[in-house]
Amino acid sequence: MRPKKSLIALTAAALLFAGVSACGTTGGNTTTSPPPSNTSAAPVSGDLEIFSWWVAGSEALGLQELVKVLNAKYPDIKFINNGASTGGGSAKDVLQTRMAGGQPPDSFQVHAGAEAQDYINAGQLQDVSNLYTEFGLTNVFPASLVAMLTQNGKIYTIPSNVHRANVIWASVKALDKAGLSKTDIYYNDMASFIAALDKAKTAGIQYPLAVGTTWCQVHLLETVLIADLGPDKYKGLFDKTTDWNGPEVAAALADFGKLMSYTNADRGDLDWEPALVKVLDANAVFTIMGDWVPAALDSRNLKDGTDYLWAPSPGTKGVYDFLADSYGLTTGAPHPAAAKAWLDVISSAEGQTGFNRVKGSIPARTDIDLSTFSAYQQAASASFKNDAIVPSIQHGAAATIQQGNATGQAVSKFTTSPMGADNLKTLQTELAKAFA
Ligand code: GAL
Repeated sequence: MRPKKSLIALTAAALLFAGVSACGTTGGNTTTSPPPSNTSAAPVSGDLEIFSWWVAGSEALGLQELVKVLNAKYPDIKFINNGASTGGGSAKDVLQTRMAGGQPPDSFQVHAGAEAQDYINAGQLQDVSNLYTEFGLTNVFPASLVAMLTQNGKIYTIPSNVHRANVIWASVKALDKAGLSKTDIYYNDMASFIAALDKAKTAGIQYPLAVGTTWCQVHLLETVLIADLGPDKYKGLFDKTTDWNGPEVAAALADFGKLMSYTNADRGDLDWEPALVKVLDANAVFTIMGDWVPAALDSRNLKDGTDYLWAPSPGTKGVYDFLADSYGLTTGAPHPAAAKAWLDVISSAEGQTGFNRVKGSIPARTDIDLSTFSAYQQAASASFKNDAIVPSIQHGAAATIQQGNATGQAVSKFTTSPMGADNLKTLQTELAKAFA
């Protein structure tokens, strides 16, 4: 049974979010000297089964970049992604069911932070500290990030990338239609954002804020909590110095309810990418989503500044809402040598460069030259280095799987209700319970 809460997760997360430099001791993502290469590959053959939710659209294209490096370095390995879709929501349930049924993959996608600690506590991940030494990784990741993957001095997974969750995206076409600024979409606070949504509505865009299913709504909610509480009080939600039952959370939830009233009625059926398409088609103006969005925009050949704009989500300038994907070696992995090869690839400079360039994230390695990455990624990297870092709820940095599930249930119950005062009160009580 999974423990209710991991103190170690909180300690590790506290390390990262107590203002420890995101660059750790390694100096950031700007070094121009060639990054050290991982150990030369010993021949490995046979199947490699991973579980990742990068199974469709632009995310699958990102994963494909890792597979290219795998194929070049380990040509005799047959790569199989036996994953499931829906961006971290039900995919995690599918994975847990398989693990509980004694059918673990060789390696699986897991978020750094509380979510990774869940699997560590459940004994489902092996200690891969030796691979950090073997692959020369000891000093290439931010120390604070590695701390989130460590328990009792043992490191359990290897990060492939770092994403920012608090970003708002708009299409220029939709901004034009809505009569809103086509050069700047940063809104200082919820009130000014809501005024813009009203303006778009008046211009005939009925549901100006596009959102997808429950996990996308939780994603939206966390950005509102960050904006309304500010980074310090938001972090306090996870170490109990901020009261989930207090008036500030109540006010943030009221803002979330208000934002939800501007969203598309078919949200329950959509993942993040179809929600984004509503913005691209000018049926909505904005969506608030993590920076896997650029991959979808690139794959449609759309250009930053000309076709679309981005900014920190309303009220969150100066804050980086953090999440990182990582992979480990599963306990009972059927093909451990192939899993090790996978970890070699995802942690290598070649793997992190090819993959992140397409995925939209920034490399977790701090020794990669970003000058050939997009302007967006360079800006995200600067924000990761300089801004206040806070942990994502939806993407496992702040919330255990149990807390994430309880949050999803509470949000879904609310957003499928009339979203009135009573429903808001219930939402607040249930969120407080989820993080108690
Ligand atoms: C996140 C994951 C990202 C991206 C996103 C949408 O949880 O960390 O890499 O895949 O889901 O699917």
